[in-house]
Amino acid sequence: MQKIPLSKCFVNAEVEEAALRAIRSGQYILGKECQAFEAELAAHTGTKTFVLGSSWTMIVYLQHQLQGVGPGDEIIVPSHTAFPTMEPLMHLGAKPVFVDVDDTFVMDLDAVEAAITPRTVGIIPVHLYGHPVDMDRVMAIAAKHKLWVIEDCAQAQGAKYKGKTVGSMGHSGAYSFFPSKNLTVLGDGGGISTNDTHFADRLRMLRNHGRQGKYDHEFVGYNVRFNEINAAMGRVMLKHLDGFNENRRTIAARYTERLSSIVKTPIVRDWATHAYHMYVVRAEKRDALQQFLKDRNIETGIHYPKPNHLQPAVTGLFPYVPKLPLSEAIVKDILSLPIHGEMPLDAADKVCEAIAEFYGQK
Ligand SMILES: Cc1ncc(COP(=O)(O)O)c(C=O)c1O
Repeated sequence: MQKIPLSKCFVNAEVEEAALRAIRSGQYILGKECQAFEAELAAHTGTKTFVLGSSWTMIVYLQHQLQGVGPGDEIIVPSHTAFPTMEPLMHLGAKPVFVDVDDTFVMDLDAVEAAITPRTVGIIPVHLYGHPVDMDRVMAIAAKHKLWVIEDCAQAQGAKYKGKTVGSMGHSGAYSFFPSKNLTVLGDGGGISTNDTHFADRLRMLRNHGRQGKYDHEFVGYNVRFNEINAAMGRVMLKHLDGFNENRRTIAARYTERLSSIVKTPIVRDWATHAYHMYVVRAEKRDALQQFLKDRNIETGIHYPKPNHLQPAVTGLFPYVPKLPLSEAIVKDILSLPIHGEMPLDAADKVCEAIAEFYGQK
């Protein structure tokens, strides 16, 4: 059987042509393609502006630095997320305060309220797997306690909450364009969406050695710039993003229809327009199922096999390790099934048939 990949990057002649256009332009860093990509990303998100950077991790690090994040600060994050979510704040000496997830795999907002202390400065809701967090409630909690909110949209580009695109409701949204993401640039990349244009201007300076003009450095900065070739390709990808997300929802609907009596399929809130970066089921005998699918050339993943509050990089830093029952339970049975923007329905059917066969339901 032909391999069914977990995810796949979109490349067509238009994408290749865009890369060539950038190569031939003779301008490679923060030029016209980057400016156009930033404008198009802001329009797609529904924010006033968008700042590109070399990755989610680095642009969020710069954002935290501008926010003045530092030792003694507490920032509330879900434990069940990609490890990078809390790396930038930890580099600045702040403490990630881990909360459990709810039945949709995103942060439990009752737990967020309970975790707030006088030292809390911000919340990072992660729209994990493409399912949005209840942003009305997040913003109400943040307003009550005067906290900032950065939406982690790395896995959710184009997802919507009550019709609003993720990344447009918090004080900012943060994105990754890593090759597996819903919107990729065929390389590393990331960015911040925000309505705070003054903040965005300072972020643009910080990513480029703190400079205003070519040789005027207003503060000490970094090189977290973006390049023209990736921007040119990203602009083509962005045109296809909504269509690809629609295809992801079609695949997900087929999985749910055929698998909900066999494994635990994802729970989706009424107000969510899921972007299905991942389609994650909870399955008995998960490891044996994964091997069975691998033997049939079906690639799957485990996102993630260890909750972050139990990662050695974290437990060594904090004397108190919280107990987060659901985060600790799901790592044992979650399995990400193949899904991507161009996946055909018959591939999803083959995955469903193999899973049914494994559980003797064929
Ligand atoms: C939820 C989440 N946050 C942050 C990141 C970090 O993104 P990047 O690799 O662009 O730094 C990722 C990517 O792995 C992610 O999935």
